[in-house]
Amino acid sequence: MGFERDAEPRVALSPNTLHQPVLVTECLSLLGAGPARTFVDGTVGYGGHAEALLRESGPDGRVVGLDRDGVALRAAADRLAPFGDRALLVQASFRQLRDVLRGRGIRQVDGVLLDLGVSSVQLDEAGRGFRFSEGTAEETPLDMRMDAADGETAADLLARASEETLADWFRRYGELSGAGRLARRIVQTRGEAPLRTAADLIRVTREARVGGGRRHHPATLVFQALRIAVNDELGALEEGLAAARDVLGPGGRLCVIAYHSLEDRLVKHTFRTEERGCICPPRDPMCTCGRKPTLRRITRRPVRPSDEEVAANPRARSARLRAAEKLAA
Ligand SMILES: C[S@@+](CC[C@H](N)C(=O)[O-])C[C@H]1O[C@@H](n2cnc3c(N)ncnc32)[C@H](O)[C@@H]1O
Repeated sequence: MGFERDAEPRVALSPNTLHQPVLVTECLSLLGAGPARTFVDGTVGYGGHAEALLRESGPDGRVVGLDRDGVALRAAADRLAPFGDRALLVQASFRQLRDVLRGRGIRQVDGVLLDLGVSSVQLDEAGRGFRFSEGTAEETPLDMRMDAADGETAADLLARASEETLADWFRRYGELSGAGRLARRIVQTRGEAPLRTAADLIRVTREARVGGGRRHHPATLVFQALRIAVNDELGALEEGLAAARDVLGPGGRLCVIAYHSLEDRLVKHTFRTEERGCICPPRDPMCTCGRKPTLRRITRRPVRPSDEEVAANPRARSARLRAAEKLAA
């Protein structure tokens, strides 16, 4: 099996600590997994979906797996080793999908899966700062990068972003009502000492009196907003959806699993726009944009996990799966 760009795991990984994949049967069916087909798993993570796809596509189907996280890829490489060169793993963002495939001489694929967000292993790894708990917040650094070797950390962004930018992130990515107040408080506080740990961020969130509603710890949406900003998650998704559309052959399928409403809204809107084709204002007498439909939606409403799946894997509860099929040119 191929594995490009090296990385050493920083956590001990065993089958018990691995991420449990979500909506696997539904993905296999919607992707039309079968022999002699080539799939892209754009968020291969710990290889759960990729393994199921490889099993279902034997003896000769292939999976190209991408992930930004080198640690996850190393674990996926071990898990998928029994499939030999039917699995090819590359450390890259799915926004680079066209180049990754072109570089390996693959012109078209039969299916693309994007299982968005972070894995359970990333969430549980304290040093990455994706999640906080009051008990360990003092030791949890504000990192939040999916590729732990690339780009600015959450602490870097909190130190340099303008008050307006911070407020915009908290408003758009966290949908927070006290966004401006929190941004102002962060700028005041960092003038005295940088914000380095989850405890620092929780403290300013309290000082700014930002609420999390009945369902969330007040800082939960603040952490969500920062994670989205650090990894440019919505920008990557927009480009990734366009890249996936372009690399699919006619009849090829695109499946996306989203875990929060911002991602799901973007997927829903993109599928609708691609299905409609023309983007001219409805009052225009004739089409001048010349855009044709490229996708057909095959799920009108998002597919949700069953009660049994949520009981067995509580992290599945917010998953929403949408699928579309590429139309012939
Ligand atoms: C929910 S997990 C996927 C789990 C995987 N389906 C499995 O069965 O183990 C999401 C993964 O997507 C990766 N990821 C998030 N954004 C990405 C992007 N733009 N490009 C590539 N990987 C990304 C994360 O690093 C994480 O490993």
